[in-house]
Formats: sequence, C-alpha cells, structure tokens
Amino acid sequence: MSSFLTDSNFKLFKDKIYHESGIHFSEINRPILESRIKERLRITNISTPETYFQFVISNKDELDTLLDAITTNLTNFFRNESHFKALDNIIIPEIASRKGSQNKKRLKIWSAGCSTGEEPYSVAISCLEKLPDPHNWQIQILASDISLKSLLIAKEGYYTSEKIVNVKPEYLEKYFDKLGNGYKVKDKIKSLIRFDFHNLKFDNGERDLDIVFCRNVIIYFDREAQIEVIQKFSLCSNEDMYLFIGHSESLFGMNTDFKFHKLGDACVYRKK
Ligand SMILES: C[S@@+](CC[C@H](N)C(=O)[O-])C[C@H]1O[C@@H](n2cnc3c(N)ncnc32)[C@H](O)[C@@H]1O
Repeated sequence: MSSFLTDSNFKLFKDKIYHESGIHFSEINRPILESRIKERLRITNISTPETYFQFVISNKDELDTLLDAITTNLTNFFRNESHFKALDNIIIPEIASRKGSQNKKRLKIWSAGCSTGEEPYSVAISCLEKLPDPHNWQIQILASDISLKSLLIAKEGYYTSEKIVNVKPEYLEKYFDKLGNGYKVKDKIKSLIRFDFHNLKFDNGERDLDIVFCRNVIIYFDREAQIEVIQKFSLCSNEDMYLFIGHSESLFGMNTDFKFHKLGDACVYRKK
C-alpha cells in the first residue's frame, strides 16, 4: 500500500515532533501519524504535506495543534488498582506520619500527562480519604498535559456514566454531582488541582514534590527522551519523593537518580 507521506516527508515530521515533544514515531506507528497529518491538511485546507510542514514550523499554534492531534489520551479513574492500593495504604500513611507533626502540613503531587483529568481527580480523592486529618493539610495537585483539548475536558470535570465505572459508589456520592447522563466533579475536589499546559521536554520549575505520577506517557518516547524526562523529575523532587510510571513502562537499565521499590503489588521509584 502506498504511503500518504514520502519517506523524506515522514522523516521531516517525525524529527520535528520528536524534537518538540520526545514522542517517537517508528515505521510501525507511521500510519497513525499519516492519518493525523491528513486530517490536519483537510482542516487547514492545505493541499500538500510539504506546504503543511512549512506551516507547522512557522506557526506555533499549528505546531501545538499537531502535537495535540498525535497524542494518545486514553485514561481511566483509579487506573491500575495496585498503584492506588500502594498510594492509599502505604504512601499516604507514610507521608502523614513523616510530615504530620509539622505546623504547615503540605502535600505536593504532580500528575504529569494527566490527559482528561481522571488521574488527578482519583489522586485527590485518595488524599481526602486517606490522610488522617485532610483539612489540616495543604493539598496541592498539579495536573499538566501537552494536549489542550484533553486539558479542557479535565478542567470541566464532567464525565459520562461509562467513564466513571471504576469510581466506588460511595466516592461518587461524596465527590460528584449527578448531571444529565453523567457526573460532575465537586468543587471541593477541583479546588485541590491546578491544571496547566506543559510539555515534559521542559523543566516547569516545580520543586519539593512528594509524589509524581507520570504513567503511560514515556511509553511514546524513545529511550533518550525517557531518561531526559525522568531526570527532570529528579530536579522537582524532595528527597523522599515517590515516582509512579505506567505498569508497562520501566526504568530498568537506565542511568537515572531513581531506584526501584516494590510496595505491595505496585512498582514505584524513589531516589533512595
Ligand atoms: C495515555 S495518556 C495517560 C494519562 C494518565 N497519566 C494515565 O495513565 O491514565 C498520555 C498523556 O501524555 C500526554 N503527553 C504525551 N507527550 C507529552 C509531553 N511531551 N508533555 C506533556 N504531556 C505529554 C498526552 O497528551 C496524553 O494525554
């Protein structure tokens, strides 16, 4: 089957995307990239990939739109049960006992690559449920993504019934309002989260984080870009920070500041 992009055009786009985001396209996932570019040509009314490439490199908004179009945003509430068991039963209690006697108790968490928001909202619910005295804590959750269309959904916090199947009925009752055919996250949860457009290629200046979730994001990067992103989390961390990556991702054999730990059934990384 003939390709929509010539090999040299494919290389131009794939190198540009990699340089801008770390996302790596190989021959295997080339059809995905080709179909997304075809769609952008149709929407922008541009007739050739060459002209479209010139448009992308000269127009930051179109570059952002293309990056948004090529991302995979699949996510779920309480995705990966073993991660949430470790968070609820081991990590939050450990942080609560380590920091619990401080005057200003603060918990700083980053959902990096938060997609449509299910991950940071789940984490916020866990914090409120599992901290012994949540109202005495300053819970700060940063949720960021490179996909603007996902962030808009995340900020809205409205999910249809099919999307909330993993949310326990008592959490649904406590933290969501029923609205039409779906559920809207209550403001008391939203107020814990700051949504931000951020490309993980860059340092966002966040420091002193207690927990980072960067799950099912680096799977789309090549090894070099994976190490680059993971090492940025080292800058952001306090010395006790926990790092979650996706269950099909691994830092095995990579020279990073993080070490592997098994917490219950969950694989977690820490500096020490
Ligand atoms: C498959 S979703 C994972 C969502 C959530 N973390 C989870 O595990 O359910 C991957 C997300 O990573 C985001 N992403 C990919 N590359 C990124 C980059 N360079 N900077 C920031 N976000 C990125 C995508 O836009 C997408 O929303």
